[in-house]
Amino acid sequence: MPDQAPLPTPVPIQVTDSSFTLNTRASSYTFHVDIPTGDLRTDHFGAAVHGPIPVDPEPLVDGWTGMPDRVRREFPDQGRGDFRVPAFRITQGQDGGQGHGHTTSAFKYKSYEIVGGKELDAFTSGSGLPGTFGSASDATTLIVYLEDKIGQLEAQLRYTVFPAYDAIVRSARIVNWSPHGKNVTVDSLSSLALDFPYEESGLEMVSLRGDWAREARRVRRGVEYGIQSIGSTTGFSSHLHNPFVALVRPSTTEVHGDAWGFSLVYSGSFSIAVEKASQGLVRVVAGPNALGWTLRPGESIDSPECVAVYSSNGVGGMSRSLHGLYRRHLMKSRFATAERPVLLNSWEGMYFNIDEARMVRLAEEAAALDVKLLVMDDGWFGDKYPRTSDAAGLGDWVPNPARFPEGLGPLVDKITALKVAGSSDTKMRFGIWVEPEMVNPQSTLYEEHPDWVLHAGSYPRTEQRNQLVLNLGLTKVQEFIINAISTLLSTSNGSITYVKWDHNRGLAETPSPSANHAYMLGMYRVFDVLTSRFPNVLWEGCASGGGRYDPGILQFFPQVWASDDSDAVERIHIQFGSSLVYPPSSMGGHISSVPNHQTGRSTPLTFRAHVAMMCGSFGLELNPSDLTAAEREAIPGLIALAEKVNPIVLKGDMWRLNLPEESNWPAALFLSETREKGVLFVFQLEPWVNHALARVRLQGLEGDAMYRVDGGVYGGSMLMNLGLQYSFRGHYGSRVVFIERAIAQ
Ligand code: DGJ
Repeated sequence: MPDQAPLPTPVPIQVTDSSFTLNTRASSYTFHVDIPTGDLRTDHFGAAVHGPIPVDPEPLVDGWTGMPDRVRREFPDQGRGDFRVPAFRITQGQDGGQGHGHTTSAFKYKSYEIVGGKELDAFTSGSGLPGTFGSASDATTLIVYLEDKIGQLEAQLRYTVFPAYDAIVRSARIVNWSPHGKNVTVDSLSSLALDFPYEESGLEMVSLRGDWAREARRVRRGVEYGIQSIGSTTGFSSHLHNPFVALVRPSTTEVHGDAWGFSLVYSGSFSIAVEKASQGLVRVVAGPNALGWTLRPGESIDSPECVAVYSSNGVGGMSRSLHGLYRRHLMKSRFATAERPVLLNSWEGMYFNIDEARMVRLAEEAAALDVKLLVMDDGWFGDKYPRTSDAAGLGDWVPNPARFPEGLGPLVDKITALKVAGSSDTKMRFGIWVEPEMVNPQSTLYEEHPDWVLHAGSYPRTEQRNQLVLNLGLTKVQEFIINAISTLLSTSNGSITYVKWDHNRGLAETPSPSANHAYMLGMYRVFDVLTSRFPNVLWEGCASGGGRYDPGILQFFPQVWASDDSDAVERIHIQFGSSLVYPPSSMGGHISSVPNHQTGRSTPLTFRAHVAMMCGSFGLELNPSDLTAAEREAIPGLIALAEKVNPIVLKGDMWRLNLPEESNWPAALFLSETREKGVLFVFQLEPWVNHALARVRLQGLEGDAMYRVDGGVYGGSMLMNLGLQYSFRGHYGSRVVFIERAIAQ
């Protein structure tokens, strides 16, 4: 349920004369056709407006007028006087004919079309890209057709309105209509370009930066004159910058003020530029960072989608709109809002040191703790080149015969026959780790197909973690992966019900500028085939942790291993940061052993568990034999608590009450869809000896309603305006508190 009190559902798309208005519950997005030039001009994106909009006056004094870089444009070109970051660049006429090699385009408005609903049609419409979807009651799409008569090109700008989530989804398509056999190259094509008016108080830009094991740190900076951009050139969305940017006013907080969020539905290299031009207008341009994509006559290319949301309820409101949209209209898995089994993953407990006997013992110990799913991580495969370390075996998806002499069948049968303690009939489930996009040079696959990896002629092939990247742009590579994983999942009659899909390095030696995009299209095809063929498998995405935590991945995989840093304090930062864009339902969080393997820090078991419970997928990542007796005794209770919390985290909305970068007492509230139930998490990072306690002010409640909490019944206004207090002793304290709306007497 979105933030605002119920508002009348507006007409999603209105067209009057040459003006287009897209309406959500609380926002409007308007633009018009500039009749003399046929150019599309932006009028407004923000809080709802109605009625006609006056045309911006030209500057009256001091300045040249009528310049294309002094107006707000929907699909800005380059080479004709708009000197800001363009939305696209097309190199024309590579047949040597008219216009040979130039990069000027002049698109003018032609017509429009309105379509109810939005199908999940990437693989039928030919875009090959993931995207949002919804029925006619959820979404309406406006397609604006533009033409460049000289270049014989068409541009289609697509705007899908999701009124309930205050979201407008944008993408662009270029079609080469040349009748003369003329190829063109789409050098770049952004998903969204949007010009904001000059704001005297300025704007600020919020993004997420990081690296391996320290993902999703929030950065907020002023938008200055010039270009500030983030992006990835790694071939995947990467740990370095998430494909997301928000613009906010300097006065905007978590709770109040304007926030515009832009989230790119793409998993490859990208660029998001925010340019404050000489006259103070601010342009946002988001899309893949380069395409170099050649179109023959009749061919087309689509940009990925960019989701734009507006909230007047601060950064928190923006996040909740994105969460709701992604849970309901992006993730296609049947597990998107389904409760997730508590799991134990073997990685940090065993690393590569696994075999059948060890895995069965691990599963028995896990079952005794009430764990429901055992996930066997890296180290189980490779025959001629066994995967006993990261030096060999990737690509050879057959069980290591020394470790699993009879294959995986007996192992899976033994594990799935185990009864989970604390339940009368629940049986243990089995999941498995794969990294199918990669190959170790020490593998049979590489011996047989050295040409299948990304490479640039006879240049040396750059290895990272001793591995090379298969070229998923090649159909034969896609087929190999589809067959290998299908064979694996058919083991033991479909008893493998969970797959962790890893990806542990960036792309290098891409043979041409378009190869990165071709890789993405091939990868999405593989994901689409496998997730459609095995819809009962719960798929988890991973890329050395959160290196590919993006909306493109969420289309196929409903959860992502958010970071290889399992330290609970670090995790609070990573999970709060990731929640800027991604629903907590899509995060994986595990209790690992102490001292933590990444930071060396020791935190209490309950603190680790409470942090992990804020994720949709909760689990353990340790060897139960290493637990103390007291810890072992505590785990079933913590699992029961996680299972009680899980439905609220999965389907409800999240309020970040105190941010870890600002508070010693980070806190988050999750409220169920109906707002009847909630769960509050409060943490203390360090002791503040002899100091007053801070108050945690709740949000999202009804001021007049009464709520049961901490053994009392309190008014919503009290809980939100005065708040609650909790005391802790020492470092790393934590509380999980349930809240329930009290029935009016
Ligand atoms: C990187 C992942 O993020 C880890 O969780 C683990 O699966 C390793 N790869 C295995 O090699």
